[in-house]
Amino acid sequence: MIHSAQFKEGEVSYRNKWIKTKGLEKEFDAGKSIWPGLMDSPNRDLKTSWGSDLWLKDNSNTDISIHAGKAISTFYQCGDAYALDPVSLDTLGTVDLESKGARLMSAHCMNDEATGDLLFFDYAVNPPYMTYGVMNKHSELVNFTPIELPGARLPHSMAFTPNYSILMDLPMFWDPLLLEKDIHKVTFYPEMQSRFGILKRMSSGETIRWFDADPCYIYHIINSWEEGEEVILDVCRMSTPVPSKEVRQRLSGPYGAMLAWLKLDACYHRYRFNLTTGETKEERIEDLLSEFPVINNRYGGLSSKYSYHVTLADTDVILFDGIIKMDSSTGTRQRYSFPEGCYGSELQFAPRDNSKAEDDGYLISFITNTESGKGEIQIFPAEDLSKGPLCRLIVPQQIPPGFHSSFVLPENL
Ligand SMILES: [Fe+2]
Repeated sequence: MIHSAQFKEGEVSYRNKWIKTKGLEKEFDAGKSIWPGLMDSPNRDLKTSWGSDLWLKDNSNTDISIHAGKAISTFYQCGDAYALDPVSLDTLGTVDLESKGARLMSAHCMNDEATGDLLFFDYAVNPPYMTYGVMNKHSELVNFTPIELPGARLPHSMAFTPNYSILMDLPMFWDPLLLEKDIHKVTFYPEMQSRFGILKRMSSGETIRWFDADPCYIYHIINSWEEGEEVILDVCRMSTPVPSKEVRQRLSGPYGAMLAWLKLDACYHRYRFNLTTGETKEERIEDLLSEFPVINNRYGGLSSKYSYHVTLADTDVILFDGIIKMDSSTGTRQRYSFPEGCYGSELQFAPRDNSKAEDDGYLISFITNTESGKGEIQIFPAEDLSKGPLCRLIVPQQIPPGFHSSFVLPENL
C-alpha cells in the first residue's frame, strides 16, 4: 500500500491505495491470500512468482521513486517496477524493461534530478549476477549492461555522480554451497573485502573499475560526488552486519532469527576512491547509529554536507524513534526524539520556495502514533530540527512506520 500527502496552496490532502501488483491481482481473483507473508517461510509449492528469485510475492513495497511523471514502486529482492499515477496513486502497470532487453529492478534506483535519468540495477542467483541500466527522462532505456561478479550477491543500493555510477559487491550474501541446494542463507564473510565498482554512467559493464575496502554491509547511500581525481561516497555502514549472540538469544520465537538479522546498526562513513591511483581511503564520520539517510535532492551527486537520518529505538523490532541532522563538514548534529509511542519512516527534504542554502527547507515524515491510534504528517524546519515539528497533521488512520519514501516538487513531475 502506498500512502501520499499532497501539499497545495496551503492545504494538505492524504491518500492511500493498494499497489495492484500481479500477485495481489491474483489473490483478488482467488478471493484469498495465496503467498505467505514476508516474515513467513516461503511456500515452495508456489512455483509461480514474479520478480524475486525466491518464492516470495513481489509486493512492490520497498521504495518509491519519481521518474518521467510517474511514481515507480519497487521491491527489495528485485522485481517488477510498477508505474503509479503520482497523484491518484492508481497502478498504471509494470515498467516494461523486458521488451527493451533489460531485466528487473532492485528497490533502490536513483533519480538524478538534474538530468531526469533513472539509474538502476538488479541482482540474481544466476549469471549475470548483476545488471545495470539507465532510463532517460523520456523513459527510454539508454544503457543496459551486465556487471560481472564472482557470484550471487545481495546489494541493496547504488550511488551516482554526474559522470559515474557506483555499484557494490559486499561480503554478505547467500552461502554459495547452500544456494546450490536452493537454500538461501545470508552469511557474512569478514575475511573478504568490500568492493565498489565505478563506471561511467553510459558505459558498458566491462569498463567498471573495482576499489577494495574493509568488509562491511551497506543498506543505504547518503550521497556521492566528484572531487578532483576522487569520487566521494557517503553511506550508512554496518561494520559487523551479523547479530550478536546476545541479540540472538533475546530475540526468540518464530521470527527471532529474521528480526535479529534486520537490526540496522549502521554509522555514517565516508569513502574516497582515487581514480588515478586506484586507492581507497575510508573513515567513520559519526559514531551514533542512524539509518534511512536523505539529503536535499538538488544536491544528489553533488558535494553536500547535510543529511537527515532516523535514529533506531532499542526495541526488538525495527522502529525509528527520532530524527537527526548531520553536518559532515563540522561533525556536528542536531537531534529530535519523537514523543513516547510515536515512530517514523524515512524523512523527506522539501526545499523552501526560492531557497538558496542547502538546508533551507522542511523535513516531512509520516508518523505512527501508537498512543492515539492515528497517523500523523509532521513537518520540521530543516535548519534546526531540534526545535521539533512546526506542525502535526492528524491522519484519521494508522500509517505503518519504518518505510522508505520520496518527495517531488510539481515542476519535477
Ligand atoms: Fe532500503
